[in-house]
Amino acid sequence: MAPAEHATRRHITVLGTGYLGTAHAVCLAEMGFEVLGVDVDPARVKVLAQGELPFYEPGLEPLLQAGLRSGRLAFSTSYADAAAFGDVHFVCVGTPQREASYAADLSQVDGCVDALGPLLDRPCLVIGKSTVPVGTAEILAARLARMAPAGSACELAWNPEFLREGHAVQDTLRPDRIVAGVRSARAEAVLREVYADPIAAGTPFLVTDLATAELVKVAANAFLATKISFINAMAEVCEVAHADVTMLSEALGHDPRIGSAAMHPGLGFGGGCLPKDIRAFMARAEELGVEPALSFLREVDNINLRRRARMVDLARELAGGSFDGRTVGVLGIAFKPDSDDIRDSPALDVAATIQGLGASVTVYDPAAVRHARRAHPELTYAGTAIEAVTGADVTLLLTEWREFREADPEELGQAVAHRNIVDGRNALDAARWRAASWHYRALGVGAGATSGTPAG
Ligand code: UDX
Repeated sequence: MAPAEHATRRHITVLGTGYLGTAHAVCLAEMGFEVLGVDVDPARVKVLAQGELPFYEPGLEPLLQAGLRSGRLAFSTSYADAAAFGDVHFVCVGTPQREASYAADLSQVDGCVDALGPLLDRPCLVIGKSTVPVGTAEILAARLARMAPAGSACELAWNPEFLREGHAVQDTLRPDRIVAGVRSARAEAVLREVYADPIAAGTPFLVTDLATAELVKVAANAFLATKISFINAMAEVCEVAHADVTMLSEALGHDPRIGSAAMHPGLGFGGGCLPKDIRAFMARAEELGVEPALSFLREVDNINLRRRARMVDLARELAGGSFDGRTVGVLGIAFKPDSDDIRDSPALDVAATIQGLGASVTVYDPAAVRHARRAHPELTYAGTAIEAVTGADVTLLLTEWREFREADPEELGQAVAHRNIVDGRNALDAARWRAASWHYRALGVGAGATSGTPAG
């Protein structure tokens, strides 16, 4: 993109510089827009303005630094700065699960609109990206029109975000699809302008109403969670039928109507999106009087949580029937590889449960130790995989980082007290580990089955 073209591009603010907001702000600057990232947390703003990412995400930090150097990207704590700077405002604040219920906590979205709205004195488009219960955008649009001095010249649109942690740059610069929930041709035109690059590269651009746009996001996450829990339900059957769920999954995945994505059996889903989104979706369905339509998601959630319990049972079996006085080495604590995110991490849940049952648990993760230590100080943390398994009676693979998939079973074998391993992610080459005299067990592979295909 030529610099002359950049000069004509819009001024965009990104409100909320968490995971989603930071990736979005950095990638918009990379696309050539003038971008101001705004967050109420001064410490976060300071770190970002220095070119440091407050979380782990491959490939994002160099783009952050390039954006700052170019002068197109800046950060602030001030909503007044945001209103003065931008004619497009993206709302990227968090919508966590409420403490006492399944429903989403919308206080950050409400706070953001309430802070910005009264400052909007010229025509602009406010675009929601946060994941919200269907119907939220309609309410926010009315509130914005009431609050903004510019009145109806301040419009609201909804443009859900589908990025995966660990793939934020690619998913933001080249998304699978762009969904534009709009109420006017003007709003559609602004969104087409913002996403001109990916649209030109062939990304489908779908124009919908506000409610459909909100629903696309939660429906997509509900479907992904259902697929993962489906294959994990098959894993439960395989375990008692002495079958191998990894081969079953591969065979199912060749049917193009089924596909192999989100069909990897193991410890199940966690993170900041899938678990809370399916729960908030159920809560919203209840409010709308269509609870039965989504009651299957309760089972999706239950299947997912049962995998964690099964992992604990398998570990106990290999520990000789009790965790008392046993040493357990854990490889991986993030909710998935290439992330330092421990929100609703199945791995951390399992490690803490086993420690609570009397074992002495030592954990290693390439990125997530800092966060895990704060959340679970009772666990012991190691600086390497070898250190984590030294003296272990049982070793557990809980997050399938490449480093663990490629680990040498002989080298780890020399460090442990007993060569027992449970592969919680079906990520290891079972034959290789068995050849190195390990007692190898995996989730979803009956004790009699001999396979266990390594993850791709
Ligand atoms: C997810 C959605 O993919 C993304 O589109 C949405 O915007 C946010 O939520 P993310 O949370 O980054 O993204 O993770 P994802 O890669 O989907 O994995 C979610 C969880 O499911 C992880 O804990 C992962 O280990 C687990 N998983 C994923 C499986 O157990 N099996 C699979 O086959 C895929």
